[in-house]
Amino acid sequence: MAAIEAEELTRIFQVGGEEVRALDGLTVSLERGSLAAVVGPSGSGKSTLMALLGGLDTPSSGSVSVYDQKLNGMAPVDLAAYRRSTVGFVFQDFFLLSHLTAIENVEVPLKLAQVSRSERRDRANELIELVGLGHRGEHRPQQLSGGERQRVAIARALANRPKLLLADEPTGNLDEKTGMAITEILLNLNKDRDITVLLVTHNPELAKQTEIQFHLGGGKLQKTICS
Ligand SMILES: Nc1ncnc2c1ncn2[C@@H]1O[C@H](COP(=O)(O)OP(=O)(O)O)[C@@H](O)[C@H]1O
Ligand SMILES: [Mg+2]
Repeated sequence: MAAIEAEELTRIFQVGGEEVRALDGLTVSLERGSLAAVVGPSGSGKSTLMALLGGLDTPSSGSVSVYDQKLNGMAPVDLAAYRRSTVGFVFQDFFLLSHLTAIENVEVPLKLAQVSRSERRDRANELIELVGLGHRGEHRPQQLSGGERQRVAIARALANRPKLLLADEPTGNLDEKTGMAITEILLNLNKDRDITVLLVTHNPELAKQTEIQFHLGGGKLQKTICS
């Protein structure tokens, strides 16, 4: 069964009267439980694809379905529910809330999903443990290293038990060793929790650890490699 089905996906941005075709008729699918990487040069449409899959942006044309939910034409309230419950998003820049502790950051999506206070605390604690930060739960982002911040962001992305985890250059701001540790967490989530993981990376070593690699170029799928 498919986790992702995107057909003829096109996203055109208007920039100063010019059209930028960030995606230009991209068709791609991914089976449930897969671990895949999106690779390609800067500007090839990787982040645009991730935003469309995550319901953060809407295509100019073409269709996207994730776990049988067709995102095209979805009402805003349903799209918000989709973002909250079906997908988890991890970004290069972490995007943690600086005035909240690690645990409180993980609780944010749980609050939005109206999970009770005690369950929120339990689940956030469990996830902070899972990413190896049990001793840092009360720290705020500026008291954490880059790798630790990304661990918090991963825990937050998992809060509402997503089926699909989208990670856009999750190790892009980290040194090599820290990046490896973060990669390890993502690989284990795919293996142990049956979460479909799609990650964008510039790192060929990281891409090699995935089963499937989608190569983008000029907003199109150039080739797919299965290892
Ligand atoms: N919000 C935007 N407005 C205008 N152009 C954009 C926007 N987002 C992306 N683009 C353009 O679309 C192309 C693909 O961008 P992106 O998906 O970010 O590529 P990648 O993540 O592979 O580096 C680039 O040419 C970029 O400049
Ligand atoms: Mg990008």
